[in-house]
Amino acid sequence: MTDGGGPETIGAAAQALARALRAAGGETPEHDARLLAAAAAGLSREDLARAPETLLSGDAARTLAGYRARRLACEPVSRILGVRSFYGRTFRITPDVLDPRPETETIVEAALEVAALEGWRERPLRVLDVGTGSGCLLLTLLAELPRATGSGTDVSRDALRIAAENAVRLGLGDRARFDPGRSLAPRDGGIVEQFDLLVSNPPYIPSGEIATLERPVRDFDPRLALDGGPDGLDVYRELTAGLSAVVPDGWVLFEVGAGQADAVAGLMRASLPPARLRTLRTWRDLGGHIRCVAVRTQV
Ligand SMILES: C[S@@+](CC[C@H](N)C(=O)[O-])C[C@H]1O[C@@H](n2cnc3c(N)ncnc32)[C@H](O)[C@@H]1O
Repeated sequence: MTDGGGPETIGAAAQALARALRAAGGETPEHDARLLAAAAAGLSREDLARAPETLLSGDAARTLAGYRARRLACEPVSRILGVRSFYGRTFRITPDVLDPRPETETIVEAALEVAALEGWRERPLRVLDVGTGSGCLLLTLLAELPRATGSGTDVSRDALRIAAENAVRLGLGDRARFDPGRSLAPRDGGIVEQFDLLVSNPPYIPSGEIATLERPVRDFDPRLALDGGPDGLDVYRELTAGLSAVVPDGWVLFEVGAGQADAVAGLMRASLPPARLRTLRTWRDLGGHIRCVAVRTQV
């Protein structure tokens, strides 16, 4: 509503929201305000830019007021709108899944590099993503490697529902399977499946540091997606214990947190007899931190 009580234009509403977000210390107030105002009005950002004089309906104004309160409480725009772009594709997210991070695209880049190296683009390939969350890693790899099929596992059944929904939305439902599971524990009946490529972005924040994280992470990402135990390495220990049985002859790529690369590489090395470890490699993210630690196993 305007001061006079009449309907407000979408352009004016976006400007007012940007001012409020800037005053609250937001880092990208104009960008956030445009996204939220356009979404509240059911328009694209291009529509908003083209027709800022469009009047906001009462419903749209109420929706925007709700978005404003949530953004001022530090909720990320991606969570408010329930969507996140990852490696050029749009993923639905809910409070049950980690909001995919740009640095996790390093795992995709690394996996595509080893896939090219191994000639995996030309042949059927089996991919496992442990702790799949929204499914962003597995589904991106399946989309980029058309002959691949894959499995995503997670301890959270709610997350698996979102991942499966994303698979269908991206047209990948027939190549992806999602099953509940902890780390590399065998499926019911003791069956150990084997894969060519294992990727995982496990929870890796030391439990004691979670309370010190920034509010958008601490308050809005699920604890199950963050908490890696006392030193942050609990899930890496579980994963490396089962490595050689699940990936006897292929690549294993783990995302790691800042300063964890050496410890995770040590766990990977210790889990494989020297003759079974052909290569150990790392990749850095755009910020220059080692973000991916990988091994090539061999029979
Ligand atoms: C950091 S999130 C990663 C989500 C997604 N792969 C991504 O990169 O955005 C970690 C995920 O692992 C799941 N998880 C936690 N512990 C696990 C375990 N031991 N085995 C399998 N999944 C686990 C969590 O529920 C969460 O979905």
